[in-house]
Amino acid sequence: MKLSVSDVEVKGKKVLLRVDFNVPLSGGQVVDDTRIRAVLPTITDLLERGARLILVSHLGRPRGEVQPELRLDPVADRLSELLGQPVPKLDQVVGPEVQEAVNNLANGEALMLENVRFEKGEEENDPDFARQLAQTADLFVNDAFGTAHRAHASTAGVAAYIPAVAGLLMIKEIETLSRCLEQPARPLVAILGGAKVSDKLKVIHRFLKLADTLLIGGGMANTFLAALDYPLGDSFYEQDLLIDAKNILEASDRSNCCLQLPVDLAVTRELKPQSSFKIVPVGEVAEGWKAVDIGPETAAIYGKVAAEAGTILWNGPLGVFETAPFHRGTEAVARAVAKSEGFSIVGGGDIVAALESFGLAGQISFISTGGGATLKFWEGETLPGIAVLQDKQIKEE
Ligand code: 3PG
Repeated sequence: MKLSVSDVEVKGKKVLLRVDFNVPLSGGQVVDDTRIRAVLPTITDLLERGARLILVSHLGRPRGEVQPELRLDPVADRLSELLGQPVPKLDQVVGPEVQEAVNNLANGEALMLENVRFEKGEEENDPDFARQLAQTADLFVNDAFGTAHRAHASTAGVAAYIPAVAGLLMIKEIETLSRCLEQPARPLVAILGGAKVSDKLKVIHRFLKLADTLLIGGGMANTFLAALDYPLGDSFYEQDLLIDAKNILEASDRSNCCLQLPVDLAVTRELKPQSSFKIVPVGEVAEGWKAVDIGPETAAIYGKVAAEAGTILWNGPLGVFETAPFHRGTEAVARAVAKSEGFSIVGGGDIVAALESFGLAGQISFISTGGGATLKFWEGETLPGIAVLQDKQIKEE
């Protein structure tokens, strides 16, 4: 178990808080503040306990270059509104101006550094840059679960120089995700969608060991169907993943996990909003047609499995949900997951956006703030941003 920010004294301390404020922006405004809200408990707790707070986040992938549209000003503005207190944003990440601004912070005040990925040393996890970042603070608190799979200077490197503990969101993510892998209420049902099998090879193998049922949809289902020699017309699938898909199907035969593929598909000639489509059984996708969603029979089967689940872990949509009416398969299964009495965890930007567009996000037991990080966690990998945090000493009686 990791040491949490609640376990340490913070009054008067300069606290470097890594957050994942990689949020969507449009016209200079934050359009989805879920990730900002998720960290409010940690921020409020630290400020109420008299910490002097230095917030650090990345936004987008500027790769060591300053990109004006990726400055964090709109994020700092939104945070200030939510918090009801100003959070000034600096234009630098490290250096004398930063040091001076930090020195001027009173207990219970916060500031935000500029986008940490404007610095080359961030993604390279350059020790010199990590040391400069760390030297502004007395304590490092990592609450950026969504970035914990990256071994960067602000997620991992800084922990070599100052004590490092977990934020409240980080603790909640670790505890909830771990519990559902280690002691899940059964049956444990995993639902995996999205375009590519290549992104999910490891997690599929892990679920074959842990889950009772694995439901597959989205573009990645096509690769499995192609591996079984079903004709797929013009559908997208990963030709170079056919051997891996065959290996997975063989491994599933030897496992106790029931891997289910679609039995019917929505197919269209052209993927555009409201384009005409038909429902066909797998095996009947003709030339000139492409599979873009699971069919209603598949949705009913998957929905029944979800309804009877004790635990549901879901990443990736089951069709091209952004293009109506090819959201229907994902929506039908989402409705069953939302109604299920099982504990449901959903992680990943696309599927969370889909649930929000269906108005169902509030009915999911736990929405993880991670995308790639949640998948890595499910794969059983030790995430670098978690590995560097201090462990809690268990007192012997
Ligand atoms: C995410 O949005 O998944 C995290 O913020 C990590 O972003 P990255 O994939 O650019 O590292």
